[in-house]
Amino acid sequence: MPKNKVYIETYGCQMNVADTEIVLGILKNKGYEVTNSADNANVIFLNTCSIRENAEQRIYGRLGNLKKIKDNKPETVIGILGCMAERLRTDLIDQKKMVDIVVGPDEYKRIPEFIDNAFIGEKGIGVKLSRTETYDDIIPYREDGLSAWISVMRGCDKFCTFCVVPFTRGRERSRSLESIVDEVAQLSQRGFREVSLLGQNVNSYIDNGRDFADLLASCAVVDRSLRIRFTTSHPQDLSDKLLHTIAEHSNLCNYIHLPVQSGSNRILEAMNRTYTVEHYLELIEKARRIIPGVSFSTDIIAGFPGETYEDHLQTIDVMQKVRYDGAYMFKYSPREGTKAFRMPDSVDEATKTKRLNEIIDLQQSISYEVNQSIIGQEEVVLVEGFSKKSNEFFAGRTDSNKVVIFPYSEEFKPGDYIKVKLNKATSATLFGDVVEMLIPSGSKVPKTA
Ligand code: SAH
Ligand code: SF4
Ligand code: F3S
Repeated sequence: MPKNKVYIETYGCQMNVADTEIVLGILKNKGYEVTNSADNANVIFLNTCSIRENAEQRIYGRLGNLKKIKDNKPETVIGILGCMAERLRTDLIDQKKMVDIVVGPDEYKRIPEFIDNAFIGEKGIGVKLSRTETYDDIIPYREDGLSAWISVMRGCDKFCTFCVVPFTRGRERSRSLESIVDEVAQLSQRGFREVSLLGQNVNSYIDNGRDFADLLASCAVVDRSLRIRFTTSHPQDLSDKLLHTIAEHSNLCNYIHLPVQSGSNRILEAMNRTYTVEHYLELIEKARRIIPGVSFSTDIIAGFPGETYEDHLQTIDVMQKVRYDGAYMFKYSPREGTKAFRMPDSVDEATKTKRLNEIIDLQQSISYEVNQSIIGQEEVVLVEGFSKKSNEFFAGRTDSNKVVIFPYSEEFKPGDYIKVKLNKATSATLFGDVVEMLIPSGSKVPKTA
């Protein structure tokens, strides 16, 4: 019998990327082959996102294309995984008859069984959310590379009023610290140079009394030449202990993604974000004191229900005060089932767009200025490979997660840590010249560093 071949296309956040690797890990165990092309596969999954309306529309569009593959090869199994599963299962399976299988984020272990049933013509739905499933016992399928993602917790208990995540991914739960540290050690042995620890709200990680700072410290000592990043931090739970831990360990990156969402206390309250702008700004100041040179990025939503021009100006104000290195900026998108969906005073589309554009323009000029201010500095850069635009240049990343472009030379290869002196910058990219080799790929620094 020919081998089953699976292809997964991933949408949404990095947690979905990590989940795809878990699903592929499960299927590899059952003898499936992984392929990078939908045309070669007899099992095709879309791992979906529901965060904003356009994320869902993209999936419907893509399912339309995939239907052509199925028309040609009717034995192909098509499935929906991820955050759309629970919300849209009846629509997808019964009404539009578009897919054979719909599986939510906590039932991935049942996928092999669902596929077997689909081969004999039975539709399958598994969308129950779990309070305990963390896939701690699954080894994710990862191709060799420099960067890897590890989910350290699942779900979210925060219930921000605009957000579907608590409904699509269920209650918060953490993986065991030991299993995460083991995974980090395996990645280090395979030559990875960067690991990002993922959760919707990593600061509330807890395993037998050990918190996120403890987890970071335990991961940091595994291999000092392995950079450890993490995302996302909720401002409510960012502890002093965490900040001191980042400052203490050279390989815990000096970069914090700390979504503010809005600069207006009235809107923050309506969003159920549980902090005030004053608390948020104090946190930023404290982090800058404890971790010199720390950089920040954020998420901002424009046009939340009831947002006045005054509220919008306060968001502009918080951006000017913090001077973020980068930001992910969105128009508010009403999501059915959330509290904000039923809130009155929606902001009209044109106003939302105008406010979002103002926010984007401001952030661009701030990023530009911040980058100009570090020209002349020397940065430790992890070499990633050729730059996107030219084979005469290499690209890498700083500890603070900024992309640096520098002239290609045979002396360097992906995985090297080098020192680069910055000589030019745009709002999105830094440019520089190599000063010296620090740690060649394949070699590690001693544990005591
Ligand atoms: N757990 C993370 C956020 C995950 S979602 C946190 O709390 O920071 C990523 C971002 O998408 C959010 O920070 C928010 O800015 C945006 N987002 C979520 N729901 C949205 C909605 N309904 N409309 C517009 N943006 C939204
Ligand atoms: Fe959504 Fe808020 Fe949870 Fe982030 S913290 S995933 S925005 S509910
Ligand atoms: Fe989207 Fe689900 Fe992530 S809704 S942003 S894929 S948690």
